[in-house]
Amino acid sequence: MKEKIDVTEYGNQILKAIPRGVLLNTRAEKFDSMVIGWGGIGTNWALPIFTCYIREGRFTRSQLDKNPEFTVSIPLDKPDPKITKVCGRTSGRTTDKGKEAGLTLESPEVISVPGVREYPLTLECRVLYREKQDLKKYPEKVLSFYPQNVGSENCGANRDVHVMYIGEIVDAYIIR
Ligand SMILES: Cc1cc2nc3c(=O)[nH]c(=O)nc-3n(C[C@H](O)[C@H](O)[C@H](O)COP(=O)(O)O)c2cc1C
Repeated sequence: MKEKIDVTEYGNQILKAIPRGVLLNTRAEKFDSMVIGWGGIGTNWALPIFTCYIREGRFTRSQLDKNPEFTVSIPLDKPDPKITKVCGRTSGRTTDKGKEAGLTLESPEVISVPGVREYPLTLECRVLYREKQDLKKYPEKVLSFYPQNVGSENCGANRDVHVMYIGEIVDAYIIR
């Protein structure tokens, strides 16, 4: 069962959970789930939005190019270390992360990408806008996040800039 929620009532909880690692799920070639620690909810064009930042070489980026929809799955308490390890340190290019992390997929309501029962607070999002950031425009204080001697295939920080995605939140609920 899905309990519909008003995202703004969960704003504090969502914003506190993000830096600890939440899941961003995609489905194009296959289902994939990656951990994100940067992003947030907000308002743009008078719409509720979720903004995230995905390095350009991530498998997730290629998935979003093919199907520009994603779900964000947020734990109600602490993140699960096994899920963080599998979804945050391996790539969907080589790993079936749903299976490895033991994720239980839940059918979506509006979009084509499932949510995850283990992280029940769910936002269904459709990409409205995307923009690749420009290394030359980053301020000095953030350049250490872009080590130019580390290749794109590295699951942690690497040479790649981020692509910013602004997704419209088209549905929000807690999987019970
Ligand atoms: C706590 C944590 C937060 C992360 N946040 C981000 C993020 O905001 N953006 C990003 O591109 N990668 C982030 N990563 C790294 C990706 O989760 C990781 O590279 C993942 O393997 C990508 O999966 P994919 O290749 O299937 O797309 C984070 C990893 C962890 C452990």
